[in-house]
Amino acid sequence: MSYPVWHPFTNMGEFLEDPLILTKGEGINLYDEQGNCYLDLNACLWSLSLGYGREDIIEAMMDQAKKIACLPLFGRSHQAAVDYAEKLLGYLNGDFSKIFYTSGGSEAIETALKISRAYHCVTGNPQKTQVGHFSNSYHGVSLGALSIMGIPSIRKNVGPVPTDSFEIPMSYDISQENWEDYVEKIEQCILAQDVKTVAAIVIEPVIAAGGIIPIPSQLIRRLKQFCITHNILLILDEIVTGYGRTGYLFAYQEIGIVPDLITVAKAITSGYAPLGGVLVTAKIADLFMTGDVTLNHGFTHGGHPIACAAASKTLDILHSEGILNHIQDNTDYFSQQMQTLDDEFEIVEQVKGCGYMYGVKLVDQHDAANLAPFARKYGLLFRRPAENNVIPVVPPLVSTRQDIDNIVTRLRTIITEYLLAI
Ligand SMILES: Cc1ncc(COP(=O)(O)O)c(C=O)c1O
Repeated sequence: MSYPVWHPFTNMGEFLEDPLILTKGEGINLYDEQGNCYLDLNACLWSLSLGYGREDIIEAMMDQAKKIACLPLFGRSHQAAVDYAEKLLGYLNGDFSKIFYTSGGSEAIETALKISRAYHCVTGNPQKTQVGHFSNSYHGVSLGALSIMGIPSIRKNVGPVPTDSFEIPMSYDISQENWEDYVEKIEQCILAQDVKTVAAIVIEPVIAAGGIIPIPSQLIRRLKQFCITHNILLILDEIVTGYGRTGYLFAYQEIGIVPDLITVAKAITSGYAPLGGVLVTAKIADLFMTGDVTLNHGFTHGGHPIACAAASKTLDILHSEGILNHIQDNTDYFSQQMQTLDDEFEIVEQVKGCGYMYGVKLVDQHDAANLAPFARKYGLLFRRPAENNVIPVVPPLVSTRQDIDNIVTRLRTIITEYLLAI
């Protein structure tokens, strides 16, 4: 039989020339059928935070499967959904009053967009339907999420998108030093839309799939003030940054604002089960809790019991094993090691990142995707982000300093070998 799977975001012609089928995961490593060992520099698309083979997560999932393996939250509940929500919200200082569960990131974004519109409808501003998003940003691929896609190539061949939206310019070059230069342009861009029609602005604290671009906290704080002034909701997309990636449970805690809505997914279960959600502030959630208004929205497997059990155990481990401190302790070290690549190689234009997420941007003449075959030879797998010419270095959160050294040493070898080969 010919190969039966159509893979997402995959050039199938290239894939079928040399299909990589992985058969085992252990710690931070993956193994193929021949026993070759790999480390995924995208951490399973930013999901795998605690590594493979965690018996404690697996047991929690099995226990839940034995109790109750399937129960959509439409008009009824299960204990795993309640327990996880209470535990998570308990860590957030009362900033959020509810979680609306989904089964993944795009669904979380769809939900946040719908909640924003519903909020404005219920509060007497039904004309507020537009959503502003930033160029370079990625929020998913369902058609609503695609409406706020900041990476033009991903919108190709799809035709018109359904949600009213507009794009706000954001550059790879934004930094702590120059963020103020961007503020006025951003505010002007939003004001040019007629703010009476703007429902929400959505932003990633660190643009991930668009090329690992940390957004300065000061800019997000300014944006929050601007949103308050104009009755616009601020949606922080923490689908990548959530659950420890930046050294905080959520990036908003370091930024020092409370967004109206936060979208979460991916590492919520350390990748052990599909789950996502929207964290909702009381200002919004309370409007829907009285019985007068119902949000007619939801996904069959949003808040799936086995996924909630995995999420609960993941949250326990993040705290009991001091993973957030581990990231904070290693951030400077990781960053310094990554900078050595910038110092050593002319083809490296810049290294950017924070916490446990970095991007090695190559000069335009050298496509980072062309280094992937060299990387595979040395046991590193990566997918170049769709925008900006970057090698992502986003390992599982449990990676040690020794693992970091090992990654950087291999990257050095890979770049050297690539340069010799061209
Ligand atoms: C910031 C961000 N938001 C949303 C999504 C969409 O998540 P999913 O692929 O689970 O639908 C992604 C996926 O990479 C993402 O990086």
